[in-house]
Amino acid sequence: MSSDDDTRQPSTASGNQLWGARFEGGLAPEMIPLNNSLSVDFRLWRQDIQGSRAWARAIAGAGVLDSGEAESIIAGLNRLETRLEAEVEDTAGSGGFAARYSDEDIHSLIERLLFEEAGEVAGKLHTGRSRNDQVATDLRLWGRAAADEVDGALVALCRALHGLAARSAEAIMPGYTHLQQGQPIRVAHWALAHFWAFLRDRDRIAAAAQSASILPLGSGAIAGCPFPVDREAIRKELGFRALSENSVDAVSDRDWVAEFIFAGALVGVHLSRLAEDMVLFSSREFGFLRLSDGYSTGSSLMPQKRNPDVAELARGKSARLIGNVSGILALLKGLPTGYNRDLQEEKQGLFDTVDTLMLTLPPMAGAVGTARFREDRLEAALGAELLATDLADFLVRAGVPFRRSHEAIGEIVRRAEEADVPLTELPDAVFHAVHPAFASGTGSDFRAAFSFRGSADAREVPGGTGREAVRAQLEHGLERLEGR
Ligand code: ARG
Repeated sequence: MSSDDDTRQPSTASGNQLWGARFEGGLAPEMIPLNNSLSVDFRLWRQDIQGSRAWARAIAGAGVLDSGEAESIIAGLNRLETRLEAEVEDTAGSGGFAARYSDEDIHSLIERLLFEEAGEVAGKLHTGRSRNDQVATDLRLWGRAAADEVDGALVALCRALHGLAARSAEAIMPGYTHLQQGQPIRVAHWALAHFWAFLRDRDRIAAAAQSASILPLGSGAIAGCPFPVDREAIRKELGFRALSENSVDAVSDRDWVAEFIFAGALVGVHLSRLAEDMVLFSSREFGFLRLSDGYSTGSSLMPQKRNPDVAELARGKSARLIGNVSGILALLKGLPTGYNRDLQEEKQGLFDTVDTLMLTLPPMAGAVGTARFREDRLEAALGAELLATDLADFLVRAGVPFRRSHEAIGEIVRRAEEADVPLTELPDAVFHAVHPAFASGTGSDFRAAFSFRGSADAREVPGGTGREAVRAQLEHGLERLEGR
C-alpha cells in the first residue's frame, strides 16, 4: 500500500503530490498515468470544494483553526470555485479542464490551488481528514445530484409515454405474447406498460440516492478523526440524511454505487425493450408506428431507408449499462476491509452509467413524444384469432366449463385453418356442430364476441385494457408522476 495519505507532510504550493516526504525520488514515469485519476475524477471538483468548506468549519469548531484561518480558507475555496467554474465553462466542461493539470487527483489539485488562493494556511485544511473519507464524501454528493438529473430525464420519458397513451387512448392493437397475436389491447395500454416500468426506475434511482446519503466525512483514513469535529453539523451543512456509524465501513462502502449502477442498468433494459417494440412496430411488416424524422436516419446506399436509429442506439447503449454492473461488482469482490486503491476505479462505471442515461433518455423521450400510431395499419393487423379467448368466454357464460370450451374453440380454430378463412367467417352451423351451447339464444348470439373493441372493453378490471380501466390508469399514472 503505497500512499496512506493522512500522515504525510502538508502539501506545498509548489509540489503537486500530497504524500511525497517519505519517498526518495519520484514515481516511475510509467507509474504516473496508472496512478493519476484526475482525467476521471475532475468531475468531483465542485463537491470537493463543498466538502472542504464544511471540513474547514468542522475543524475550526474543533479548535484546529482559529476563526481568521477558517475564514481565509473558506474565502479561498470560494474564489477557487469561481475560478474553476470559469475554467470548466471555457473548456465546455470536458476533460479539457483536467488536461491543463498534472496533479494526481482532484483532491490534490484543489488543495494545491487553494495554496495559490489562500497561502500557507491552506496547509491546515487536511487536518484529521484523509482522501479516503474525502473521496467517499465527494462521490456521494455527486451521486445525489446525478440521481436528480437522471430522475428528471426519467420523468420526461414517462411524460412522453403518458402523452402517447393519452392521444392514442381509443386505438386498438394486437397484444402479443411470444410475439404471436394474443388478445386485443388498447395502444394506450401498451404505452403505459412501458410508463410503469420507468416509474419504478425512478423509485430505484431514488433509493440509490438514499443509500448515498450517508456522510463518511470524519472517518479519516480508517479509524475516525482524532479532533472533536461536530459530524452532525457537517451532515446538516452537506444535506446528508445520516452519519456513517463505522469509520472502517465508511471508507470502504460503495454499495450505493453498485445500487445506482444496477438501477441504471435496469433503465437500460427497459429502454431496450421499448426500443425493440419501436423497431418492430416501425418496420414495413408491422407498420404500426411512425417515428418523426428527427429521430430516424437514412441509408447512404438505399435511398428508401428510414431507420429507427434512436431505438437501435438506445438498445445498444443498454449493453454498456449492463456491463457496468459486472464492472462494479467485480471491483468490490474480494477487497480486504478498509480503503484500497482499487476503489479509485469505482468512478468510471458510475460516471459512464449516468452519462449514458443522460445521452439516451432525452432522445428516446423525444422520439416517443413525437411518434404516431397508424390506426389503419393497426386495424389491418388485427387477426380474427385474437378473439378466440372471447369465444371461449362466451361458452363459459353459457355454463360450459372453461377446459371444455377451450377444447371447442381449438376445434373451431382448426376448422377455420382447414377452410383457410378467419374463424369469424365460418358459418353458424359449424359452431353449432362443435358445441351445442353455440346454438343458445338466436343461434348466432356468439357473434357478438367478434369485436376487437368489445373484447378490449370487456376487460374493465383494475389494470385491464377496458376503456374505463385505461382511463383510470392514465389518471393514476399522472398522479404518480405529479407526486400526488
Ligand atoms: N484518487 C483516489 C480515489 O479516487 C483518492 C483516494 C486516495 N487515497 C489514498 N489513500 N491513496 O480513490
